[in-house]
Amino acid sequence: MSVDSMIRVVVPAILTLALLASPSVVSAGNARQGQPELVNGCVACHAVLEDRLAAPVGLLGDDVHAERGFSCVTCHGGDDSADVESRAKDPTFGYEGAPVGAGMVETCSRCHSDAELMRRFAPAQRVDQATEYAVSEHGRGLAEGDTNVATCVSCHGAHGVRRVSDARSPVFPLNVADTCAACHADPALMAGYQAPGGTPPPITQRADYQRSVHHAALTRGNDLSAPTCNDCHGNHGAAPPGVGDVANVCGTCHTSFAERFNDSTHGFLFDRGCTECHGSHAVQLGTDEMLGDAAPAYCVSCHETGDAGLVAAARMRSSIESLKRSFDEAQALVERLTVAGMEMGDQELELALARNQLTLARTEVHAFDADRVDPIIDAGLGILAGVDAAGVEALAELRFRRRGLALSLVLILLFVVALGFKVRQLDRMSHGGG
Ligand code: HEC
Ligand code: HEC
Ligand code: HEC
Ligand code: HEC
Ligand code: HEC
Ligand code: HEC
Ligand code: HEC
Ligand code: HEC
Ligand code: HEC
Repeated sequence: MSVDSMIRVVVPAILTLALLASPSVVSAGNARQGQPELVNGCVACHAVLEDRLAAPVGLLGDDVHAERGFSCVTCHGGDDSADVESRAKDPTFGYEGAPVGAGMVETCSRCHSDAELMRRFAPAQRVDQATEYAVSEHGRGLAEGDTNVATCVSCHGAHGVRRVSDARSPVFPLNVADTCAACHADPALMAGYQAPGGTPPPITQRADYQRSVHHAALTRGNDLSAPTCNDCHGNHGAAPPGVGDVANVCGTCHTSFAERFNDSTHGFLFDRGCTECHGSHAVQLGTDEMLGDAAPAYCVSCHETGDAGLVAAARMRSSIESLKRSFDEAQALVERLTVAGMEMGDQELELALARNQLTLARTEVHAFDADRVDPIIDAGLGILAGVDAAGVEALAELRFRRRGLALSLVLILLFVVALGFKVRQLDRMSHGGG
């Protein structure tokens, strides 16, 4: 065994043993129900202090680190023997105080960047948070001495750190916007910075996001696949998606839109990708009114009356409108026939296929080439023509059945009347004969 590999094996082992040995965690029955109680010098004294000094003790029961046996000294150093109070804050016993600035990131990455150590506790967990963070806008700011930027602690806390899958974690999808907005919606904090134009950066990201289709899907629909801040900006590499990357951010989820857009004239020209039309934070539901040669269509903000862009816009819009109209008519017919008792199951399936073509057309719009939208519309119209033909046949059948029904009603009536006559005749005969 070489010295090098010995160091690699032995040192982490000692470190882990030391970490496991240092905290004196006992599951005392008198603790708040089911929660571990740390009995050591730090806790004993801090528990009877006030506010910010006692808070770390109060949060122990909700702390993923305490759960694993790490204690105050793991992060702060010092001596936590209950009987040697005087040594608690002695720097010769490693006491470092509360970390500040870059010290916060060092405190966390000491373990979280140590693959060897993390593998023992949480083998599936990533160990690249600090390296990602270092290249983010936050990390770069911190490296330059800016302590207003987010550190590990701003997003996860220092005490009472929860698993990210815990609904009460500040980085759980439903809580992320508020966590980021604590700084990004703070005018005083952001006034100290400059956006490219020289003005302070916008502070409306959360407000804009909260009126987006994404926020609606995430909250009302409880669709955790809908993005919140970190899905677009990254968990640890938080930076504005770079020039040219913007379309890619949206494309990670909306792949079929991105494929078409990337190959289009716009794809080569637009710096801000999808956001040129849809915006980044207040993304709205797609509607056909966004397309065309008149406001509120997106197209009129750059194109002028008569140019190739608006001609294509008008053509695509009118194709979509014609499919929508035909669809509505066919659907109304099928509904009427179903209510009248006709079997229209096949036609309902066909309608679903036609509706699918409408969705495909709205996606194909992103090639910004009317020649590519038309075949999709034509296929939809073809399906609807079949539905119409079947509908007309069903209508004829319905009329035929109604005529048949009327005829049989008349026949039954005649029969009943005839029967009545016969009965009366028999009656009269029997009276006359008696
Ligand atoms: C005898 C009581 C006592 C003990 C034991 C004690 N502390 Fe404290 N601690 C205090 C008081 C009082 C303060 C606030 C005054 C100060 O900053 O010194 C404090 C402050 C702190 C701070 C905040 C310092 C800052 O810069 O704001 C940290 C961190 C801390 N203690 C950690 C520990 C740790 C870790 C241990 C165990 C090794 C420990 N304490 C043991 C009483 C105690
Ligand atoms: C996972 C690492 C970690 C553990 C474990 C930990 N702390 Fe801290 N503690 C920090 C960090 C980081 C800060 C600085 C947070 C900040 O400034 O927002 C801090 C800050 C503090 C402060 C100053 C709070 C303030 O608002 O000024 C006190 C007091 C403190 N810790 C006490 C404790 C005690 C007592 C324990 C054990 C019960 C403990 N800490 C366990 C990382 C830790
Ligand atoms: C700007 C906010 C922010 C900062 C700063 C931040 N995190 Fe995170 N962190 C997140 C988000 C968001 C997630 C992912 C939550 C999810 O998966 O739903 C996360 C996830 C994690 C996880 C779970 C494993 C993983 O990588 O998904 C760990 C561990 C973690 N962070 C540690 C750290 C450490 C250590 C630092 C400092 C180097 C740090 N974080 C800095 C927001 C942040
Ligand atoms: C002594 C080593 C150590 C230190 C220091 C430490 N962590 Fe951890 N942390 C761990 C381990 C080990 C786990 C995994 C626990 C588990 O999965 O049971 C963990 C889990 C986490 C998780 C939950 C990840 C998940 O599974 O969802 C977050 C978030 C986290 N740590 C953030 C931090 C932050 C922020 C700091 C700094 C204030 C920090 N950690 C300091 C060792 C450490
Ligand atoms: C503790 C405060 C704080 C928190 C929390 C925070 N940030 Fe930041 N963030 C900053 C500061 C300060 C800057 C630097 C501002 C600047 O340069 O315009 C910054 C910069 C950024 C930038 C780069 C902006 C630009 O124009 O270059 C992005 C993107 C960003 N943050 C996203 C996020 C996201 C997403 C979250 C939540 C997951 C988050 N931030 C949480 C303080 C914070
Ligand atoms: C659907 C993706 C997406 C979501 C969700 C999202 N962003 Fe952004 N964000 C972007 C894009 C794209 C840009 C680049 C803006 C541009 O070029 O128009 C951006 C830019 C930013 C900037 C730089 C300043 C600015 O406004 O242009 C900050 C800061 C920021 N976002 C923070 C946030 C915060 C905080 C949240 C959550 C409340 C969030 N973002 C949610 C995509 C997103
Ligand atoms: C993390 C995945 C994800 C990312 C990233 C993302 N979206 Fe979405 N988007 C969704 C989900 C989920 C919905 C909810 C509705 C749905 O199911 O289509 C949605 C809905 C939409 C809608 C409305 C769809 C409709 O039916 O009318 C538009 C428009 C949209 N996103 C555009 C964007 C743009 C532009 C970006 C980039 C700035 C973006 N999205 C980034 C997942 C994502
Ligand atoms: C030049 C403007 C423009 C750009 C750039 C653009 N879109 Fe669209 N987008 C539209 C228009 C117009 C509609 C509405 C189409 C319709 O309903 O007829 C739309 C609709 C959508 C829809 C909803 C579709 C539906 O079924 O209702 C999504 C999702 C979408 N776009 C995503 C994206 C993504 C992702 C990108 C980038 C890869 C992007 N868009 C780029 C103009 C644009
Ligand atoms: C942000 C500005 C911008 C918006 C918004 C925009 N375009 Fe364009 N578009 C351009 C530019 C620039 C060109 C290339 C120069 C030219 O041909 O006009 C272009 C080119 C085109 C072309 C190719 C024209 C040709 O000569 O072959 C079509 C088609 C087109 N756009 C359709 C649309 C449609 C449809 C919309 C609305 C959904 C739209 N554009 C919205 C800027 C824009």
